[in-house]
Amino acid sequence: MWSSFTDFVFAQGAAERSQCYGPILEQLKTLCPLSNSCQSVSVLVPGSGLGRLAYEIAKLGYRCQGNEWSMFMLIASQFILNRVKGTNVFVIYPWVHNFCNNMSSGDQLNSCLIPDVDPHDLPPASDFSMTAGDFNEVYNEEDTWDCVATCYFIDTSPNVVAYIETIQRILKPGGHWINFGPLLYHFADMANERSVELSYETIRRIMLKHFGFELLKEEVRIPSTYIQSPLSMMKLQYECVFFVARKPLISK
Ligand SMILES: C[S@@+](CC[C@H](N)C(=O)[O-])C[C@H]1O[C@@H](n2cnc3c(N)ncnc32)[C@H](O)[C@@H]1O
Repeated sequence: MWSSFTDFVFAQGAAERSQCYGPILEQLKTLCPLSNSCQSVSVLVPGSGLGRLAYEIAKLGYRCQGNEWSMFMLIASQFILNRVKGTNVFVIYPWVHNFCNNMSSGDQLNSCLIPDVDPHDLPPASDFSMTAGDFNEVYNEEDTWDCVATCYFIDTSPNVVAYIETIQRILKPGGHWINFGPLLYHFADMANERSVELSYETIRRIMLKHFGFELLKEEVRIPSTYIQSPLSMMKLQYECVFFVARKPLISK
């Protein structure tokens, strides 16, 4: 039983993280167990948001870099990751702008203490960094990364194929792309924006046939929520795809 609403919110956050980050972290540990020489495995997390997945990967002992282009996300992640020490030091009101679907007026003002983990609680020799900028522009160097982990990211581009192209280019031969998320194309229906909204089936075909990826694992319709208010009268649930794809050792 929750001792307070704040415990409840933490537990909800943990559940969401385990839905989407859980499978990514599990696959990473399976593909590159740290018991052998994988300590130097490099993992890139494009569209890392506030940096939590990248932090979790670094905490496991991998060399990890998050990449993010939103100034809002970068300001918040820079503050949390570089300036905050300890846990539960700030109160935030994540749903203060939600005027709809409140069972009680107080639900809108429900608070949450952050961070729930100490951002400085990384292994002493950890190699964790963040870059600012558009993923397609920042990353061009071929055959650089052992793993690219994308979570709720590939639908943020007006052209998802450009992301696939970049991921294919920057992965080392034999490197892995781990992806979890839906296809809520961010540029769809935006005035004066071009947007290509491909189905997962089409993305899959392009990945395999055009870019030569080999699919090692694939699950579809995995239920997942994203910053869902636990008390809201409306719940939005995605049915996500999760896959692990390997770049061929020899490019065609
Ligand atoms: C839906 S959020 C997912 C955040 C994080 N991966 C997570 O799971 O919590 C997508 C993130 O990708 C970022 N993003 C969108 N387009 C990007 C681009 N071209 N390069 C880098 N980041 C981008 C957005 O600013 C946003 O923070």
